[in-house]
Amino acid sequence: MIAGPGRSAVGFPVARPRRLRRGAALRRMVADVRLHPADLILPMFVREGVTEPVPISSMPGVVQHTRSSLRKAAAEAAAAGVGGIILFGVPEHKDARGSSADDPAGIVQLAIADLVSEVGGDTVIMADLCLDEYTDHGHCGLLTATGEVDNDATLVRYGEIALAQAAAGVEMIAPSGMMDGQVAAIRTALDGGGHTDIPIMAYSAKYASAFYGPFREAALCAPQFGDRAGYQQDPARSAGEALREVALDLAEGADAVMVKPALAYLDVLRAVADSVDVPVAAYQVSGEYAMVEAAAANGWLDRDRVIMETLTAIHRAGADIILTYWAAEVAERLASRR
Ligand code: PBG
Repeated sequence: MIAGPGRSAVGFPVARPRRLRRGAALRRMVADVRLHPADLILPMFVREGVTEPVPISSMPGVVQHTRSSLRKAAAEAAAAGVGGIILFGVPEHKDARGSSADDPAGIVQLAIADLVSEVGGDTVIMADLCLDEYTDHGHCGLLTATGEVDNDATLVRYGEIALAQAAAGVEMIAPSGMMDGQVAAIRTALDGGGHTDIPIMAYSAKYASAFYGPFREAALCAPQFGDRAGYQQDPARSAGEALREVALDLAEGADAVMVKPALAYLDVLRAVADSVDVPVAAYQVSGEYAMVEAAAANGWLDRDRVIMETLTAIHRAGADIILTYWAAEVAERLASRR
């Protein structure tokens, strides 16, 4: 045995980090990061014109709901204690300007009203605000004659959609289109319509990510030409660009900000969390879900442990709120633990 710095007289280490790891009760007591059902938001899809829920093959366990199956699943999620539900509409009719997005009888408006009456007050009813699910070309905005996404014309549409969602009773709006000035446009439209109390959770730092692949099946919204790299952030930029996007959104009136995807962008999440004092959300996206489900289906990893580990890591990196397709399941699991 060797005596020396950090060794006791008999030569053993004095400092032993392993002491606090012995036993589940001790580990539980010293844990810094705890997941809570109220911090989880469940993304849900509602599809127009179907009579049965439609499974999404690349997201096993997730479906495109009918209005009635949506109500039922939302009630279960609310009973499990999830903090919120964010709705994505899958309309029957798509056109160049995404008319269904702000049609008062559009599927997402009807579903918002359904959920407010079903679970309003128990969990926060949110809506994604974008055009890609509603346009026939699949881009997040209106196109110019030459096929570019027209930023400023799109802002007008976003304002109109915000008013339609507000009229349906939405409790929080989450714009995801990455148009410059979108938060200001939506805030102005909402305030002008008397909806000064509806908060905006901005998808502030949203990357042009291949991890959205399964979502495009879920929402039937793959771009028909080109990609979204002209408006979503480049993964190769440093976190500084994300901080600029966040600062702009806050100046425009955002009440909460988001980083998306989550697991591959934990550095960005930490930088954002350190720089703002509003709630910070992270979106564990469709591809993150699909990867784990696929590996688990092959027996290659322990599904439940990996789910909890990823969510813990995202929370530890600074997310106050996590959007995850596992929200209801995890909320239930957390509630059944001591
Ligand atoms: C755009 C939007 C997308 C996602 C959420 N909102 C798709 C995209 O930007 O291409 C992706 C979510 C996920 O992958 O789970 N309306």
